[in-house]
Amino acid sequence: YVIGIDLGTGSVKALLVNKQGELCGEASRSYPLLQPQAGYSEQDPEQWVEQTIEALRALLEQSGVNPDEVEGISFSGQMHGLVLLDANGDVLRPAILWNDTRTTAQCRRIEAVLGDRLLDVTKNAALEGFTLPKLLWVQEHEPELLDRAAVFLLPKDYLRYRITGSLHMELSDAAGTLLLNVTGGSWSEEICDAFGLDRKLCPSLVGSLEQTGTVQGDFGRRCGLTETTRVFAGGADNACGAVGAGIVAPGAALCSIGTSGVLLSYEEENRDFGGKLHFFNHAQPDSYYAMGVTLAAGYSLDWLKKTVAPDESFESLLSAAGEVPAGAGGLLFTPYLVGERTPHADSAIRGSFIGLDGAHRREHLTRAVLEGITFSLNESVERLREAGVAVDTIVSIGGGAKSGLWLQMQADIFGAAVVSLENEQGPALGAAMLAAVGSGWFESLSDCAAIFVRRARTFSPDAERTATYRELFGLYRDVYESTKELNH
Ligand code: XUL
Repeated sequence: YVIGIDLGTGSVKALLVNKQGELCGEASRSYPLLQPQAGYSEQDPEQWVEQTIEALRALLEQSGVNPDEVEGISFSGQMHGLVLLDANGDVLRPAILWNDTRTTAQCRRIEAVLGDRLLDVTKNAALEGFTLPKLLWVQEHEPELLDRAAVFLLPKDYLRYRITGSLHMELSDAAGTLLLNVTGGSWSEEICDAFGLDRKLCPSLVGSLEQTGTVQGDFGRRCGLTETTRVFAGGADNACGAVGAGIVAPGAALCSIGTSGVLLSYEEENRDFGGKLHFFNHAQPDSYYAMGVTLAAGYSLDWLKKTVAPDESFESLLSAAGEVPAGAGGLLFTPYLVGERTPHADSAIRGSFIGLDGAHRREHLTRAVLEGITFSLNESVERLREAGVAVDTIVSIGGGAKSGLWLQMQADIFGAAVVSLENEQGPALGAAMLAAVGSGWFESLSDCAAIFVRRARTFSPDAERTATYRELFGLYRDVYESTKELNH
């Protein structure tokens, strides 16, 4: 067996998988988000460790598997979160998470100091969520803490450190720090020096499939695993989501709709997206992925349900929306309920319903919300195509893949074939696949994906609806510019 651990923002999930890629057990435990001030989002790293122990203990107990038969474990992790450690390896302050927005001033400083070098070296724009702005915030607001800091880690790298006792940062996650030379695969001394950051703060880098140790002492005793279990580095949650959906070679893109939504393509070469999409190292060695993010994807649908139909199920809400024709009877929705990342990188913009008619009913609102979320993701599809990526097939996972209506809508709006998966398990399966390849079960992630990832259905775009949506997408794109003054 192998175990994949997904250290998420709300909870940690552990999956037990056998050599055929069959799911043999699953357990998860949640932990709180700390919001000491508006815009702050923090977590206690000790909670990640405690709840992972609980989830692993429950998983081993429920499945009845002998812990010595667990050959390897690996990780998927929420990206960007800053964990600061002192010289003894003790945590200096609560982790500052990816969805914390206190660092706008630090982003502007990064742009001013680095200019074009930011994109040249890191391939990414300065966004509040990334790690360097958080380090600079600590440098400005808690300088005595930064003086005591010996090293910084990201969430799953901290968890792995507590399991093995050895300290590393894994490359696909390091790509989201804005301190990595992404195509060189090494820390940027230039960027450290530009901000007076001690280069020693950056830990040694490892690849996703590399072994960093075995399960040690107290952690092992408490969860039930032993030193026979090898520990592999793991990957960023978006990289692991791609691995778990079989996106480990050129061919298909990925659409993942959860609270936020992600549109991602596998990239073999250093391609220039001019910072309009994120460009990170993949968990598959020597490759990358380009990615756009819709901040309020599933979040928008949750908001609608909570607001207009709290007692209805999602199934009945979506099935009623299926009765409304494409275009929602002239109603257009923009999903900027908490701001937008791609393509606007604007945390202040807010959403809209435009074209309301006295005859519209709840199902029109629902259809417009589904369409608006998908239009937002189509902005990322367009950025990929503009840069020369052929987006013909898109594997769809998450909440957006639970409804035939929404899968067909994705095909119609993206103008691409959309594929759903059997037994989809998200990033935790990707993490288990990294452990499976690391343990030597397969030669490569592609070989592993051929066994572990099974496609279910393909939805092809309908020419008439695709044409309708093309026109509406043009209008959708105009909404941002003409309404942004409302919220700025
Ligand atoms: C990616 C990002 C999120 C987190 C969520 O840039 O900020 O997708 O990885 O865990």
